[in-house]
Amino acid sequence: MNNHLKNLVKSHWEEETCGTRYGAATSRKLWLTEIEKTRYEIEPYVLDFADFKSGQGKKVLEIGVGAGVDFSNWIKCGAIATGVDLTEAAIKLANERVKSTLHPSPFTLLVADAENLPFQDNQFDIVYSWGVLHHTPDTPRAFAQAFRVIKQGGHLKAMVYHVNSWTGFMLWVRYCLLKGKPWRGLKYAIFHHLESPGTKAYTTKEMHEMLAQIGFKNIHLSTKLCAGDLLNIKPSAKYKSGIYKIIWALYPRRLVKLLGDRFGLNLLIRAQKS
Ligand SMILES: C[S@@+](CC[C@H](N)C(=O)[O-])C[C@H]1O[C@@H](n2cnc3c(N)ncnc32)[C@H](O)[C@@H]1O
Repeated sequence: MNNHLKNLVKSHWEEETCGTRYGAATSRKLWLTEIEKTRYEIEPYVLDFADFKSGQGKKVLEIGVGAGVDFSNWIKCGAIATGVDLTEAAIKLANERVKSTLHPSPFTLLVADAENLPFQDNQFDIVYSWGVLHHTPDTPRAFAQAFRVIKQGGHLKAMVYHVNSWTGFMLWVRYCLLKGKPWRGLKYAIFHHLESPGTKAYTTKEMHEMLAQIGFKNIHLSTKLCAGDLLNIKPSAKYKSGIYKIIWALYPRRLVKLLGDRFGLNLLIRAQKS
């Protein structure tokens, strides 16, 4: 079952590498730049959270590099960076991005599964993963693998999805309430309708319990409103018809912003192996 689901996840991301929807330029170099520019325009807080400079001279592992924008910033800031992704498409694109700029540090990129990291124990100072570990079928196993490869005293920085969010609520309205099945709940809506099949989302309590059980210490969790909660994203193909254009136009962004980060989709995780 897990293998079947993982194949579906892989196929989904092989088809469209994360973030590439925002590249429209015909020149390849401009296209790569455009993707990076849009990423940090849409999610500027990634820069603060990742704190790429903290990786200088450190061994950093990024799990799920996608288009490689964050990965190339680890390298730019002097990290000894290793990146993995489940898909060939992401690894190819991340390689292209890094090689298209002049980076001083050595780097490694390979296709690998977060649930079976091909590294020895206690290897990395920082393991970083943005928007990835909720997509893999066995998320607790992926977090346990991250823990295994982090050195004693090293840090985990990750973002996974937060269940009680505007995005979760919108998906629930669309795919549960309007279908006359409200009892299915937000987790169901996210599992079946947010990005790749089988996406999970957590409460802060659930995530804290999972991390503590694995052995992480100094766990800090916070939620953050993201571009998806504000519908400040380019809609995927299934949300391009007339009704969605109206929803996108009428969405009460100011109100959602005013209510703050509490119902944000992004659950930011900082934790330590000590
Ligand atoms: C939403 S994208 C995020 C990419 C990138 N971190 C970013 O922020 O743009 C999710 C990525 O996770 C990768 N992924 C999903 N399951 C994975 C797994 N089990 N192991 C490694 N990568 C995985 C996908 O291939 C995809 O590139």
